[in-house]
Amino acid sequence: MDNSLIINLAEKYGTPLYITDLDIVEKNYRKIESSFKKYFNKLKIFYAMKANYNPFILKLLKSLGSGIDAASPYEFILAEKIGFNGKDISFAPPNASKEELNVASIYGVDTLILDSLDMLENSKGLRFKNYGVRINPSIEAGFSEKVMTGKAYSKFGVDISSFNKLIEKSKEIGIEINGLHAHIGSGILDEKPYSILIDKMTKIFDNLSKKDFIDIGGGFGYNYMTGEHIDTDKIASVINDKFPYDKELRIEPGRYLVVNASILISRVNGVKEIDGRKKYVQIDAGMNSLIRPALYNAFHRIKLLNENGDIEEKYDVVGPICESDDYIALDVRLKRPKVGDYIAILDVGAYGISMASNYNLRPIPAEVILKKNNVVGIRERDSLENIVGKYKGLDNL
Ligand code: LLP
Repeated sequence: MDNSLIINLAEKYGTPLYITDLDIVEKNYRKIESSFKKYFNKLKIFYAMKANYNPFILKLLKSLGSGIDAASPYEFILAEKIGFNGKDISFAPPNASKEELNVASIYGVDTLILDSLDMLENSKGLRFKNYGVRINPSIEAGFSEKVMTGKAYSKFGVDISSFNKLIEKSKEIGIEINGLHAHIGSGILDEKPYSILIDKMTKIFDNLSKKDFIDIGGGFGYNYMTGEHIDTDKIASVINDKFPYDKELRIEPGRYLVVNASILISRVNGVKEIDGRKKYVQIDAGMNSLIRPALYNAFHRIKLLNENGDIEEKYDVVGPICESDDYIALDVRLKRPKVGDYIAILDVGAYGISMASNYNLRPIPAEVILKKNNVVGIRERDSLENIVGKYKGLDNL
């Protein structure tokens, strides 16, 4: 993205501002699809929309042939509004009430991924076309402990020793399980965990009386320092080595498709120096706009959009929230920023705006959507009225 275009957008829409380039999403989709299509003619891609539920991204991915991995009813309802059909949707909630499962069946969701015996019980009397069981394969993979969903004793999935119990129970209830699912972790940077996973999955797959699909989840990582994606050709190849069926392979990329498609633009409100040693750049985006650094100690590259002289110094880039952990980047080298300068935080397309909050009553940032360098849409910044207008009855007090 061109600097002057970015600065113009920041002046027009204000900051903090997410800018998303749909051409990058398209490129990422085509890449992961071609890696897997080489080996799997029955490939299905379900975009994990929790990474970024921006409707423009959903509409683009729909046009490219993607399906949706939904974690909540709100997600599949939005996806259907955008034009996805029930057959394009796999509902894989970490837990769900009977009412939520009922909503899924009313909306015609094709695939339900069962996370527990209770979810199986809760789905009694409902009908889905496909039932997968999410297993916990006991594999440690992911960029942080906090996202290792497939490690032993995590809250996710059915551990292998309980798997047969679930199959027995499903027979009693009259539900036929026809697929296996796993999602081991997020931000995986090499193919090895997938190779171990597919080994474990194929062993259990043979126990199913009906074998239609294996879903290996998402997790396809991105190197935030170099700006490179994991090599999906290698993942597809190791899975192919151990996948002896002519069955459907399903994948659920979230981060991979959107991570480098967005930047977050923020403005410098102050530069603070303590004893000539410690230096802070205070910007208007903090953990409320991008929580990944505070929550996972995650790294994001920072780019100063106004170049100021030659002297590079080390700064902590911090936000406007009343929390010590409210930072965006620590110890970064920048050329003396000054009040009013713009800063771009890179690679925030995944789990950026979708995890933003109104903490300190600050609005969730506005968004601008680009295609071929033209603005095709926006999401307005919240107003105070949007945020607090939901409290009713104050006059009664
Ligand atoms: N499938 C399931 C069932 C998932 O739970 C997830 C992500 C995905 C697919 C997509 O994973 P991905 O391809 O994006 O790695 N908030 C964290 C990431 C949490 C991921 C949660 N589940 C972050 O900011 O890095």
